[in-house]
Amino acid sequence: MTFKNSVIYQIYPKSFKDSTGDGIGDLRGIIDNIPYIASLGVDYVWFNPFFPSPQRDNGYDISDYCSIDPAMGTMEDFDELVAALESHGIGVMLDMVLNHTSTDHEWFQRALAGEKKYQDYYYIRPPQPDGSLPTNWVSKFGGPAWAPFGETGDYYLHLYDPAQADLDWHNPDVRAEAAKVVNFWRNRGVHGFRFDVINVIGKGSQLLDAPLGTDDRKMYTDGPDVHAYLRELNEASFGQDPDSVTVGEMSSTSIGACVEYTRPENHELSMVFNFHHLKVDYADGRKWTLMEPDILALKRLLNDWSLGLQAGGGWNALFWNNHDQPRALDRFGDADRFRYESATMLAAAIHLMRGTPYVYMGEEIGMSDPGYTTIDDYVDVEARNAFAELVDAGHDEEEAFRIVHSKARDNSRTPMQWDSSAGSGFTDGTPWLQPTNQAEVNVAHEETAGRILPFYKRLISLRKSTPVISEGDYEPYAPDHPDVLAYIRRHEGRRLLVICSFRGHETEIDVPEDFLDGEVFVSNYPARPLRPRLSLSPYETLALLV
Ligand code: GLC
Repeated sequence: MTFKNSVIYQIYPKSFKDSTGDGIGDLRGIIDNIPYIASLGVDYVWFNPFFPSPQRDNGYDISDYCSIDPAMGTMEDFDELVAALESHGIGVMLDMVLNHTSTDHEWFQRALAGEKKYQDYYYIRPPQPDGSLPTNWVSKFGGPAWAPFGETGDYYLHLYDPAQADLDWHNPDVRAEAAKVVNFWRNRGVHGFRFDVINVIGKGSQLLDAPLGTDDRKMYTDGPDVHAYLRELNEASFGQDPDSVTVGEMSSTSIGACVEYTRPENHELSMVFNFHHLKVDYADGRKWTLMEPDILALKRLLNDWSLGLQAGGGWNALFWNNHDQPRALDRFGDADRFRYESATMLAAAIHLMRGTPYVYMGEEIGMSDPGYTTIDDYVDVEARNAFAELVDAGHDEEEAFRIVHSKARDNSRTPMQWDSSAGSGFTDGTPWLQPTNQAEVNVAHEETAGRILPFYKRLISLRKSTPVISEGDYEPYAPDHPDVLAYIRRHEGRRLLVICSFRGHETEIDVPEDFLDGEVFVSNYPARPLRPRLSLSPYETLALLV
């Protein structure tokens, strides 16, 4: 299984490189920078959607699954991109947003125009007898999950923005359309697919109110039909390709469900993204709050997921960052005082684990959250809604801003910082989202004098050359240590002890005797003699191989 020793690079096309000067990234800009991507040593590039879209949710509201957004390029550009990446041995992973379409999509428009066939593609329901909405579910972007279906008096379901109408996967025609979309891209040479929020496609056949005081996500997440639908999609599309690599984005999921999604015998997906480890700074489970990350909870989650997927024969996708998360460097590290140390420690922590690591563009050069100062600097609908809701709920604007600043998705969507110029080498025009610290953090600097980029390159290549990393068993070490995440990997007589300090102060850890004369395999501080009671510097990471 090739994906075990692979590393996947994520590109947010809108923010990677603009070749036309309109301030928006495009496919040509990516093609021009393939030498950089290849220099990282990665095996696949996952691209966020670049299909036609009214951009209510930055391309996750797709109006045509089988074309390229003209603002991003043409189908010829796409074919060139696939071929050019392939010539470097790099595969393409496309983002399949098949839980919902844009309300501009032809299917929804024909449904609105009265065509029964297409009305059956969506969840269109009358109000309840008392006039209330069909269910009490809330949208993940705020407000109710139902919007009026034209002038009909009925409502359609949107778990996300009102511009994103949920597809009804109970309808076999919808499932056939989904396979058709995947096969369209397979026929253009694509072997990799990321399935957006795929564990919410198996809603009950009857949509019911969540009992009062309970979490409405339970009513539609990881439903019993998801597995059957995934197996069907697998069989009808990517499963016919022995080289396919797939990852499902699983929202509010469980270890048990993810074992089922990824056990090879089940013929569903190669691996899964889950987000529990990125909620350890959510006070009471609520995203729009300020909280220092709970490191013990983080450790427990990483350990439980590694052990759980291992025991069940499943496979995890390993990541700190993506286009929906604030930069991990600001959440778990210290971008001001220890940028190099904390960036490299975070990298080692997941690149040496059991699973397939993902690197989100800019992470490899230590990019951090932008220094925005007002809500007007943000573009994302989720951030703007959250700010308004926080103010409505009584927070003063300054505090509401601080909260949004700490959690907004735009934090990771700022343009790639190629150099120190005003447009950060991303554009000659006005960037759609402003970069702020490109003077200190940029590719040009990292390539000549930086220390984060070389560290990433080494970790990426180690996974290929070192079976204990790609294949080894996982065992937590010092699980109760309050500051340090540590684990041991084992494979055919070799063992790797990985130590990662999550603190900006010194701390200590006991090193098992047999590791004391091991090889220092990975480290982000100068060499020093190993001691049974080892003191660790701020954000130190150390991997010892015996
Ligand atoms: C996923 C995407 C996110 C998008 C949402 C709705 O979580 O990663 O960006 O807003 O799905 O499609």
